[in-house]
Amino acid sequence: AAAELGPYRHYMQKEIFEQPRAIGDTLQGIEGADPGLFGQGADAIFDGVDSLLILACGTSYYAGLTAKYWIEALAGIPVNVEIASEYRYRVSVPNSRHLVVTISQSGETADTLAALKHAQSQGMRNTLTICNVATSAMVRECRLNFLTHAGVEIGVASTKAFTTQLVGLFLLALTLAKLKGRLNAEQEADHIRALRHLPVAIQSVLALEPQIMSWADEFVRKENALFLGRGMHYPIALEGALKLKEISYIHAEAYPAGELKHGPLALVTEQMPVVTVAPQDSLIKKLQSNMQEVRARGGHLYVFADAGSNIRNEPGVHVIRMPEHYGMLSPILHVVPMQLLAYHTACARGTDVDKPRNLAKSVTVE
Ligand code: G6P
Repeated sequence: AAAELGPYRHYMQKEIFEQPRAIGDTLQGIEGADPGLFGQGADAIFDGVDSLLILACGTSYYAGLTAKYWIEALAGIPVNVEIASEYRYRVSVPNSRHLVVTISQSGETADTLAALKHAQSQGMRNTLTICNVATSAMVRECRLNFLTHAGVEIGVASTKAFTTQLVGLFLLALTLAKLKGRLNAEQEADHIRALRHLPVAIQSVLALEPQIMSWADEFVRKENALFLGRGMHYPIALEGALKLKEISYIHAEAYPAGELKHGPLALVTEQMPVVTVAPQDSLIKKLQSNMQEVRARGGHLYVFADAGSNIRNEPGVHVIRMPEHYGMLSPILHVVPMQLLAYHTACARGTDVDKPRNLAKSVTVE
């Protein structure tokens, strides 16, 4: 195992650092947003679709939530994202024109498989999976698939599977947008170029590790943390909080920053670190006023800001600057420092990072 780990202390760290390779492999040979990426007959299936129903669990569910922002904005198709264990037991409204999309690293999660079967039993036949295991039950059960090429993921807390799922989902958004006549050739080429730039962009985010380790030194002593994001970065805040709780056992929760005033602000004291995803997008002004609300209550902000941002280090405000502004792909870049923050905090607390207590890599029983 030592040989396999190379310079890394844990599989999770190795897998975080493998993300440029995993994304590069997932994009291998892809030159455009073509239905063929999702399997034979995808064009006919996509043509008949009027909405998406995304079903998943855990980290894969947060990939689905991110995809909703992309697909609705780019393709103009309504998207519902549901936690598989809820959907399978709920009385819902079937729609044979749904594209049912399951997202799963393992392709074997019992709840996600059961949710898929539930949808099929209600007459929904257009099924696609975004999956990391070619031989899995999920790939066998779905008519279409997009395989992520993350490679075997050993750390229980998912990292490279998540970012490669996001790549597959972004390609799905582009493909649907193109079919709906909402993406011209030039825009398509720009998006593909941006995707191809991801491995390099992630490499420069990984270089922030020493700065993130110094934040981790402060998180070690905390028992609670709040994560804030807005828009397509809200699911990334959710994923950041999940990573931290899974492996460091610090209680963490995420909120869309606009909801602060409806509850979590009551929890903010000097003891509460507030991790904020703050890229320079159309919501930055709103987010900065939310950050002010936290500062006014003595909360300590840990902010991921863009290089050109006017958010400055000051007492109670710690800033790490992301190397570039990544536009629509920004969620893929912003999750990486969150993974590193959780990882280094867990290491400093001495937990079993790759096998956190009470959790399993793949939950194949209900
Ligand atoms: C478990 C794992 C998570 C994973 C979830 C869904 O909870 O610990 O990392 O996100 O299952 O797994 P799947 O294989 O369906 O993506």
